[in-house]
Amino acid sequence: MKRHLLSAADLSRDDAELVLTTAAELRELADRPIKKLPALRGRTVVNLFFEDSTRTRISFEAAAKRLSADVINFAAKGSSLSKGESLKDTALTLEAMGADAVVVRHGASGAPHRLAHSGWVRSSVVNAGDGTHEHPTQALLDAFTMSRHLGAGKSGQSLDGRRVAIVGDVLHSRVARSNALLLHTLGAEVTLVAPPTLLPVGVETWPVETSYDLDGVIPKADAVMMLRVQRERMNGGFFPTAREYSRRYGLDGRRMATLQDHTIVMHPGPMVRGMEITADVADSDRSVIVEQVTNGVAVRMAVLYLLLGGSEPAVGGEE
Ligand code: NCD
Repeated sequence: MKRHLLSAADLSRDDAELVLTTAAELRELADRPIKKLPALRGRTVVNLFFEDSTRTRISFEAAAKRLSADVINFAAKGSSLSKGESLKDTALTLEAMGADAVVVRHGASGAPHRLAHSGWVRSSVVNAGDGTHEHPTQALLDAFTMSRHLGAGKSGQSLDGRRVAIVGDVLHSRVARSNALLLHTLGAEVTLVAPPTLLPVGVETWPVETSYDLDGVIPKADAVMMLRVQRERMNGGFFPTAREYSRRYGLDGRRMATLQDHTIVMHPGPMVRGMEITADVADSDRSVIVEQVTNGVAVRMAVLYLLLGGSEPAVGGEE
């Protein structure tokens, strides 16, 4: 593993599989009455969130606490300093506090890279979502969730040849980019389905297929991942109306009926029910959306443990 986790592309197949198998061991903890391990005792993890977050921030906090690390939550939103200055000043503060890992979410694509490579901090930097760029731990938790439902092969976890449809606002989605990279590394076949206006420039260089035809793609998929339409990042009209968008790119009960029996429905959250996904689909037996959240804690524990090189075994070192 590299020292930082900034992009899903930082992970070789071996790295990614190590995270997934470590997460599988740690996942068992979620079902035990006492969920805590001493593996990162004495280490400090700082959650530095410049952008709103529910799941990701809480998930990193739970993950660090379950490994007995000290956690500092730093909500940087509202700073009046310009982005470069505020990031540097904040970084120097973190360094002074002795952070071992900094988990950063920022509205500007590339901010975690700046933090990692500026020389301002000595800690490991984990990208928890930067602008429209990447969100590698979300991709890891998605791959983990897929492997639990669809995994095959010797380890029972392989995603080789599995077909994943990622549907919706790919243009603004860091989740889509990180998933495309990681799933390719793990041998899955990804198809992005979106209106032409919501596919990024240069998508032809991504290791994926693209389609505008949701009904043509999803009957062949093993997993269908719906993306939120990120209106807060839009400054123009990317589609005629919400109704038109839902009709062409939303997942409703009628479309769900065309899926194979084993196919799972995913969403990174937050969902806009009625827009990209209807409530009956979100709450159906195929939906693994709540499980994605549970798995996120185990995956982030694995990432923190592996990056910080915990001195005790992740599991089995209990007192
Ligand atoms: C996503 C994000 O913030 O990139 N959510 C998440 O982290 N679970 C997706 C989104 O905001 O739609």
